[in-house]
Amino acid sequence: MKTIILKINPKKINLTKIKIAAEEIKKGKLVAFPTETVYGLGADALNEKAVAKIFQAKERPFNDPLIAHIADIKELYRLSRQVPPVALKLAKAFWPGPLTLVLKKSELVSDIVTADLDTVAVRMPADNIALNLIREAKTPIAAPSANLFGRTSPTTAQHVADDLGGKIEMIIDGDRTKVGVESTVLDVTVEPVRVLRAGGISVEKLKEVVGQVKISKELEEGFRSPGMLNSHYSPQAKLILVEKKEDAQVGEIRRLASEYKAQGFKVGIMAKEENQYRYNRFEVKVIGKGTELKICAANLFAVLRSFDKEGFEIIIAEGLEEHGLGLAIMERLRKAAAPK
Ligand code: TXA
Ligand code: MG
Repeated sequence: MKTIILKINPKKINLTKIKIAAEEIKKGKLVAFPTETVYGLGADALNEKAVAKIFQAKERPFNDPLIAHIADIKELYRLSRQVPPVALKLAKAFWPGPLTLVLKKSELVSDIVTADLDTVAVRMPADNIALNLIREAKTPIAAPSANLFGRTSPTTAQHVADDLGGKIEMIIDGDRTKVGVESTVLDVTVEPVRVLRAGGISVEKLKEVVGQVKISKELEEGFRSPGMLNSHYSPQAKLILVEKKEDAQVGEIRRLASEYKAQGFKVGIMAKEENQYRYNRFEVKVIGKGTELKICAANLFAVLRSFDKEGFEIIIAEGLEEHGLGLAIMERLRKAAAPK
């Protein structure tokens, strides 16, 4: 299959092009498209055969449910049989935006989308290309991140082409994504609401709107003992995450880097800008200033992918602070560092 790359300027949307892509969705084909978080691999969420193709292209197991993307809040009531007041409050506060709500599903939603669960994940993305595509397709669009299963998520159209080129009909190229980490996944079927995946909307921000917010047990345990985590978001290189206080962290990273270098490995370090000079004997890529977690999030996946492109075998990453978007970044780094 030849994958068509359709370039659309996100600042000046060409509706004719959007309609071409929407036609593909209507015909049950796969179209990768930008959202504000990461690129998604889209299919008509109400067409089971089309949704099945997503799992095939990504090599994703069928027990991992998908997010349905909508462009109008009314759609929430078509996809869910029960929208609690807290869900509406959150949707009004954060949509369009990087928040995914998990609610009781309606009969309209097929089991393949939800992996046989009684719940469905729904989000309204804050990206004009994505919103226009959903509107023109006149159907909710199911879309996981547009990468091969378990691998680093894509923040540019080139990343998508690297993983899925030749396997999907179309990629809309709408520049690099702004947020850079996926949406926060929030279960609103329970009280208090529960974060299942840290993401683009921080826990602090959620608390401002709903007061109490719980963190899922899995997420919390993952933070305490990263060894228990399943590998996800992984680069091809082996990733080692060093979580220590400042000087100890730098010392440990230098020691590990020297050791692997001596063994003949091509070793790279992913560091905060302020620490870059402390690794001047090694190859370093900067994720951003440690105090600018938004920028670090936006750079995270692109930096990991660039190590792979340049043939690095080992990546040693500095840990970041765990507030705001730092929580989402650390969740991803810990999973990326988990044994494959
Ligand atoms: O930012 C994002 O959320 C991106 C863009 C494309 O929108 N999408 C994305 O999709 O990250 P994906 O498939 O890579 O991750 C979806 C996450 C998975 O961890 C999945 O297990 C969870 O959402 N999920 C989906 N439906 C669920 C449900 N009914 N209950 C619990 N978790 C669910
Ligand atoms: Mg994903």
